Amino acid sequence: KRLVVLVSGSGTNLQALLDEITAVGAQAYGAEIVAVGADREGIEGLARAERAGLPTFVRRVKDYEGREEWDAALAEAVAAHEPDLVVSAGFMKIVGKEFLARFGGRFVNTHPALLPSFAGAHGVRDALAYGAKVTGCTVHFVDDGVDTGPIIAQGVVEVRDEDDESALHERIKEVERRLLVEVVGRIARNGYRIEGRKVVIQ
Ligand code: GRF
Repeated sequence: KRLVVLVSGSGTNLQALLDEITAVGAQAYGAEIVAVGADREGIEGLARAERAGLPTFVRRVKDYEGREEWDAALAEAVAAHEPDLVVSAGFMKIVGKEFLARFGGRFVNTHPALLPSFAGAHGVRDALAYGAKVTGCTVHFVDDGVDTGPIIAQGVVEVRDEDDESALHERIKEVERRLLVEVVGRIARNGYRIEGRKVVIQ
């Protein structure tokens, strides 16, 4: 299976996928990353892709007339690589109708909280501020809401009294990277079933 990964930052989830595929081989894993896209230049996630010899592309919202034009351009850039599955690994933009029309049902996102709690761009900060005792990460299909698509898998992380946002986020990311690698591989190898909102992967 062909994966396109979208990033906006450090790309450690991307790196976890790259390392796994290198370790077990694309054949055994069931997928290879064919391109990495971003919404901004100069991020470590793109440097990781370049070091891995992968094609990259950047589509910045401000380069387009409006949001719809950006969304269509991003969809085109992704489609050019003929992905079977698109993975948002810390991609910090909400995609629109065009993108979802083309990739809905094969577009997964990872979020650093236990959805539906603490959706949005500050899930780690919000869980900490709320005083949650456990939080975690969620891999889900992207739908037309913000972090509202059907949940594929979740991992739990304890919140410690001494945690600040970055310490907690780092601990979440340790679980998140393993969860994403496992889920993407299982979907690539075995596909999935969905009944209403309930996703079943083998
Ligand atoms: C991840 O925790 C993701 O859930 C959140 O941003 C982080 C991205 O980390 N949206 P990285 O870029 O994969 O290191």
